Amino acid sequence: MAKKIAILTGGGDCPGLNAVIRAVVKAASRRGWKTIGVEGGFEGLLDPIDIRPIQVSDLDGLLFRGGTILGTSNRGRFAAKTGLGEVRRIPNEILSEALNNFRRMGLDGLIVVGGDGSLTIAQQLFEVGMPIVGVPKTIDNDLEATQMTFGFDSAVTCAVEALDRLHTTAASHKRVMVLETMGRYAGWIALYAGIAGGADVILIPELPYHYDMIVEKINEREQEGKYFTMIIVAEGAIEENGGYSITGEVTDEREARLGGVAIKVAAEIERLTGKETRYVVLGHLQRGGMPTPVDRQLCTRFGVGAVGLIELGKFGQMVALQAQRIVAVPIIDAIGRLKTVPPDGEMVRTASALGISFGCEVPV
Ligand code: F6P
Repeated sequence: MAKKIAILTGGGDCPGLNAVIRAVVKAASRRGWKTIGVEGGFEGLLDPIDIRPIQVSDLDGLLFRGGTILGTSNRGRFAAKTGLGEVRRIPNEILSEALNNFRRMGLDGLIVVGGDGSLTIAQQLFEVGMPIVGVPKTIDNDLEATQMTFGFDSAVTCAVEALDRLHTTAASHKRVMVLETMGRYAGWIALYAGIAGGADVILIPELPYHYDMIVEKINEREQEGKYFTMIIVAEGAIEENGGYSITGEVTDEREARLGGVAIKVAAEIERLTGKETRYVVLGHLQRGGMPTPVDRQLCTRFGVGAVGLIELGKFGQMVALQAQRIVAVPIIDAIGRLKTVPPDGEMVRTASALGISFGCEVPV
């Protein structure tokens, strides 16, 4: 039977959201279904509803276009997560309003494309009766239920390109260069980019750092005749017994805005070593631009998989990548379980075997 489905994008944007929308609309249309886009994240489900039909003729160029044509939001009346492990219940009247609007539109299913926060909201809507299917996204790659989220490969690619560019200028000027990536609770972007981009020091939230160990690495390199050092630091990295680098106002509506740890690290290293130390905060450059081919194919597989789940009536589930295959997992099992970098895992050991410092002792 022909269905009418909706799709929304929630939380922070990332490369590949449009590629998911494209895959969903194409796969739905080949079944004779209609797709409605909900604008501005979950807010678009509230009065006055903000929706628009998306046709196959609207999809040109979406495979490689960054951002989301539907818009998104990670604040407002649907803010369900405020910090690590903290979950706020969306007020019942908000959930009911969204559900009533959903029913009034005669929809058969809603695809929610989002990270931990958006999937937490999706689960709450599912529990009040909305037929929901999830698609996991986040550049941080910190969702436990899936081997990979889309957006991650694009963010890593951006960080590696930045490292490559900084490498040559650091060498020319014999400087220490500190590159800050995103990565709030998980250091995957810094770790992958650090290994791929030849960083000498990688600082991640999972391994609190000590300045003396960073300085030791810089000195070790000087003794080897290498007068520059490349440091990559995740925004959520902390000094042992230290706190996050928070920028901007802290409100209870959303998670604290992180940023600026590279500035702190660079200043301290310059003070301790006397070496000229510069920093770059990569910030939202990692969230913009075209998705990489790896992300494009993952988005396409996720989008097609999500439509398949609706067809099978597998609501409250999300698509995930496991052992290179697209599978379905309950959203409830995917949320609130962050996938962080195991300090004694293969990636950290590999980096350490090359002599990359984490600013602390790591298992050999
Ligand atoms: O969760 C993804 C992420 O990119 C984090 O790494 C970062 O802390 C956060 O989003 C930034 O969100 P915003 O753009 O809303 O400040």
